[in-house]
Amino acid sequence: EKGGHKHFMSKEIAEQPSVVGNALNHYVRGGAIQLPTELDFTKIERLTMVACGTAYLACLTAKYWFEQIARLPVEVDVASEFRYREPPMTRGTVALFVSQSGETADTLAALRYAKENADQIVSVVNVAESSISREADISLPILAGTEISVASTKGFTCQLTVLLIMALHAAHQRGHLTAEQLAERLDQLHTMPGLMNVALAGSSAVKAVSRKLASATDILFLGRGAMFPLALEGALKLKEISYIHAEGYASGELKHGPIALVDKKTPVIVFAPSDALFDKTISNMQEVMARGGKVLLITDSAGAQQAGEGVWETLILPEVDDALAPLLYAIPAQQIAYHTAIAKGTDVDQPRNLAKSVTVE
Ligand code: F6R
Repeated sequence: EKGGHKHFMSKEIAEQPSVVGNALNHYVRGGAIQLPTELDFTKIERLTMVACGTAYLACLTAKYWFEQIARLPVEVDVASEFRYREPPMTRGTVALFVSQSGETADTLAALRYAKENADQIVSVVNVAESSISREADISLPILAGTEISVASTKGFTCQLTVLLIMALHAAHQRGHLTAEQLAERLDQLHTMPGLMNVALAGSSAVKAVSRKLASATDILFLGRGAMFPLALEGALKLKEISYIHAEGYASGELKHGPIALVDKKTPVIVFAPSDALFDKTISNMQEVMARGGKVLLITDSAGAQQAGEGVWETLILPEVDDALAPLLYAIPAQQIAYHTAIAKGTDVDQPRNLAKSVTVE
């Protein structure tokens, strides 16, 4: 049942090229995006996205896509806050709920509140026969297949895939991408399963560095732009299964507090593809290194070269389009959590105190 893997988590990590490919083939056919016609982004003024845990971090990533590519304002909230704050929702607001299980109590309650207040309710779910799927006006499956490991991996990247396709569709409908530009973006997206396979092949390097991480008591994760939510996801995944205290920060926030935590014993993991913000990230890294911090840099070969001396460890990924980077960089984030947990000997698939589906508050 684990297909030759020791744990469901490693099986599910390895499945990502194929399930992301499935989601792509479902939503992009003959070069055209296939989404329900009722989902009309020309009529939408604001998107409110609500979810919990990893699904929330997928929403936070998608905010960058909807705002930067489609120029659509997005609010993102955790369901437990949203439902009790009962935020006013203005006309033109579509509410989008993301959930792997489709049964998370807080997310479902938030959906029921929004039903009376938003123009339209959309859900992005893995389990098609679920409450969050049924109660939405439009429900989009992520097609990840059954996810058994408590720590979500393929669920996250399939959520990202569907949300990115939605953002590209919105950008085209709203006139921010021409048909040609859209086709180019979709071509790039189709390279993702292949790029993910390259990232998966780097697992022995991740394993080696994870053995060193396993003795840490605190680890910081940093990222800028769409890599910021991924830093949060890397920290969440590591906490969940290795029980090492980890925190994710926006790189630019470092000097506003967290840098006080940096010392020789605190590894700092930096997700930094060589994009437009790379120089800024390098200077954040140098601030860490100047205080004796050990930087694990996850980048591409151009980034590794630019980073220069003094970096503790580097993991190299293929070069990738900016918008696609969160999908690719999710793989080492997951592998670090997995291999660190294995090195510590914790129960990877059934971490203490956690349930796969949180159906009570
Ligand atoms: C993290 C994780 C949880 C879930 C969260 C939401 O690895 O698994 O944080 O993401 O409980 O669950 P769903 O997506 O089922 O609503």
